[in-house]
Amino acid sequence: MRWSLALAQFVAVLVMWIGGASGVSPINVCPCSKRSLCQPLPADHQFQVEVLVVDNGGKDWKHYDWSKITTIIALQNVDSELLCHAHEKGVRIVMKDVMLQMYSQDRLLRNLWITSMVHSTQKYFLDGINLEFSHQMKNFEGLSALVAEVTETFQRMIPGSQISVTLPWTPDCRAFNCNDFAAVAKSCDFFVVQSFAIHLQMWRDCFAKANAPYHQALSGLSAYIRLGVDPKKLVMGIPWFGRDYTCLDFYEPGRCEITKKPFKGAPCSSQVAKQIPYKEVMEQLPKSFTGRYWDDSYKSPYYVYKDGSSYHEVWYDDPESLSLKATIMKKLKLRGISAWFGNSLNHSFNPIAAMQTEGMWNALCPIRRKWRV
Ligand SMILES: *[C@@H]1O[C@H](CO)[C@@H](O)[C@H](O)[C@H]1NC(C)=O
Repeated sequence: MRWSLALAQFVAVLVMWIGGASGVSPINVCPCSKRSLCQPLPADHQFQVEVLVVDNGGKDWKHYDWSKITTIIALQNVDSELLCHAHEKGVRIVMKDVMLQMYSQDRLLRNLWITSMVHSTQKYFLDGINLEFSHQMKNFEGLSALVAEVTETFQRMIPGSQISVTLPWTPDCRAFNCNDFAAVAKSCDFFVVQSFAIHLQMWRDCFAKANAPYHQALSGLSAYIRLGVDPKKLVMGIPWFGRDYTCLDFYEPGRCEITKKPFKGAPCSSQVAKQIPYKEVMEQLPKSFTGRYWDDSYKSPYYVYKDGSSYHEVWYDDPESLSLKATIMKKLKLRGISAWFGNSLNHSFNPIAAMQTEGMWNALCPIRRKWRV
């Protein structure tokens, strides 16, 4: 199993590599009106606050508030129109790739993987890479050496490129060597900490809970700092989506018992809930029977609605909970903030939707409305 996976990965990388190198695809044909827009942004093009938006494809980017973005993380293939627009606005655009344990164990696979990433980044005129971990990963040794090698190769091949690593809300010392985080942070530009999905493991009880409670977001980021990570290497990731739990038993708002689903040793998990974008939350909220409730310990809003005979409790984030979390940026002197996903907002011209959407963009930085020069 392990070897067939390794082999498949190897062949896929090899094919991409050879395919790219053979010149069949239109490499180096700049799709933008000006050749300069196909240049990655230079290293000295920096911002006081880094604001990343994760983009899941489509044309929603046309409606983003470009005065607030500094980097786009593209989950899908990058549309050339988006590339030209981002560079015109002085915004970086990076791809996502997945790190596998085998890359740190096998030098040949590692070289092929890094070469193919550099190659795609150059081919699409992008500014770097955001690395995440495969979900199956249980234990990752040699992380800092691996990240250092990626960064060294990228900076040599694409001067000024940005290398970031996405990490869970709190350091996971069973999967990683926690003594290593400070070194990993030094060998990349920054970490994007997903300060949400905090209840993937529910240990104490099986009730619907907030996705991104304020105090846990704060303590998770502080834990990275205590391990020696420079706060300027930390970007806080916030959700622009909610979680819709179906209640097995509904007692009262805030007490919605959910189906057991073991996750990494814990009896229950937020994974049972459906992820819904903020734009759907805003459509559903007026039809709920509770309206917006506020939980003061989680500092998050929620509501309950009924679908046939079953009750649903939806936990989400809105401008109030997000601007509270954005103050953590200032409190801990972090590098910036990152929104998952730009596509979650309603970009229609309806005035109510436009107001809700603007509120979400403004909540990213409630203190200074504009932080780009
Ligand atoms: C966006 O908002 C408009 C107006 O409120 C609504 O009609 C439309 O269904 C919304 N779109 C989505 C995807 O929720």
